Amino acid sequence: MDVNEAPLVIQGGMGVAVSSWGLAREVSRTGNLGVVSGTALDAVLARALQDGDPGGHRRRALAHFPDQDMVGRALERYYRPEGREGRPYRPNPTLTITPSTPAVELSVLGNFVEVWLAKEGHDGPIGINFLEKIQMGTPTAVLGAMIAGVDHVLMGAGIPREIPRLLRDFEAGRPGGVTIDVVGATRRHVSTVDPVAVMGAHLPRLRRPQFYAIVSLHSLATYLYRDPEIRPDGFVVEGPPAGGHSAPPRGRMTLDERGEPVYGARDEADLGAIAKIGLPFWLAGAHGTPEGVAAALEAGAAGIQAGTIFALSEDSGLDPGIRRGMLEALARDELVVRNDPRASPTGFPFKIANVPDTMSEEETYEARPRLCDLSYLRSPYERPDGSVGYRCASEPVDAYLKKGGAIEDTVGRMCLCNGLMANIGIGQERKDGYAEQPAVTLGQDLGGAARLLAAHPQGWTAAEAVDWLCSGVDPAQRISTRDHSSVR
Ligand SMILES: Cc1cc2nc3c(=O)[nH]c(=O)nc-3n(C[C@H](O)[C@H](O)[C@H](O)COP(=O)(O)O)c2cc1C
Repeated sequence: MDVNEAPLVIQGGMGVAVSSWGLAREVSRTGNLGVVSGTALDAVLARALQDGDPGGHRRRALAHFPDQDMVGRALERYYRPEGREGRPYRPNPTLTITPSTPAVELSVLGNFVEVWLAKEGHDGPIGINFLEKIQMGTPTAVLGAMIAGVDHVLMGAGIPREIPRLLRDFEAGRPGGVTIDVVGATRRHVSTVDPVAVMGAHLPRLRRPQFYAIVSLHSLATYLYRDPEIRPDGFVVEGPPAGGHSAPPRGRMTLDERGEPVYGARDEADLGAIAKIGLPFWLAGAHGTPEGVAAALEAGAAGIQAGTIFALSEDSGLDPGIRRGMLEALARDELVVRNDPRASPTGFPFKIANVPDTMSEEETYEARPRLCDLSYLRSPYERPDGSVGYRCASEPVDAYLKKGGAIEDTVGRMCLCNGLMANIGIGQERKDGYAEQPAVTLGQDLGGAARLLAAHPQGWTAAEAVDWLCSGVDPAQRISTRDHSSVR
């Protein structure tokens, strides 16, 4: 697929590493857009290396990184040929507004490796998905992905107005940064990375990837479109049933009898208004069926972005035991996904799948000693003296309160960072014997997955999912982004 041709199917970025390099590569090989999740790839790399680098994939990718001294430092610190031999994973540097050199290097390498592996052995395009909420990790992660030649960047869970400029700055070899939302800020805080300072003479020529903003409403799409400085190249329009985080309902949040946020007509994007903008767009959230694809094309979209059917495919990064358990529950019609307004420390609603022995169960949730060590979802705040501190609503309550946090923010919060790591089989096992348990997310529409399971009782591959999605589409219906570029 030409990078300028709009894909019919985007396989959504699903964190952490559910949209693994293997999944994205398989989708890209079908001529559609495979996307790796860009969340926490520093920790994913560090932990894979500590587990002996199964298959040798990470070291194969690292051997192609332009600065081998940097690679040497990371291998020295994390690579354990024999694995951890029962020891906990060593902590990796946490994100801050001004990250340490080891933090910058691990993030650049982690993102490089994931994109490089996803692109290996074919010439299809690969995207990377970031969460606007994880602002402090964005510049270094984007740099690593661009060094690997990433073709598309996608970002949701916020208003990604600064990403187009960041991509242009890095393309020009200039320092690039994003403004950091700091609670109680009396001044602007920016996290900046200088590609030349990080890479020195090893900095390759960077190419600007296409940027797709993930939005829930047409008003946001219109806002981003209006100003050429912040204009993306396309939109993914994501509705409330999508997996992971989703935008809260507009206005005051009300909950239904199951404790889930109630969405109404005001939360539905006006697709006519989005189509009028003229940029390519894809519909996400309960569109992962052939009928969903047809409806999207009918609405003027270039196609769809799907998550759930890929998360449950054989190529997904989910731990195989968890995935099989969910498929068995789906076959019995017992798999339920709840939209939990409290689970995520970000305050955004987060989908939680009911899976035995995971955080969806009260007992498992209560048994976890609160602790914050991965820290991706921490919020920076300004102290009275102007210095910056970091807090997470899922950390120990007394620590959070001491940092000025409100007690009501801590109720029902889960440690998504550690839970999402456990989902992909790299959960922390602590010195005191406590092993982090999974916190599994999926989309709330399981209809497509149920139909795929009926057709493939032994499971399906990502390519089979793509084939099924595209089964009713006439190739002439595909839109080219070149056609769209003329309307700018
Ligand atoms: C397991 C899982 C994890 C997800 N994680 C993220 C994420 O980290 N960032 C993001 O922007 N979207 C995330 N999503 C949303 C997907 O990228 C996609 O837009 C959405 O799931 C599409 O809806 P569908 O699941 O009904 O197909 C996730 C979805 C799933 C199923």
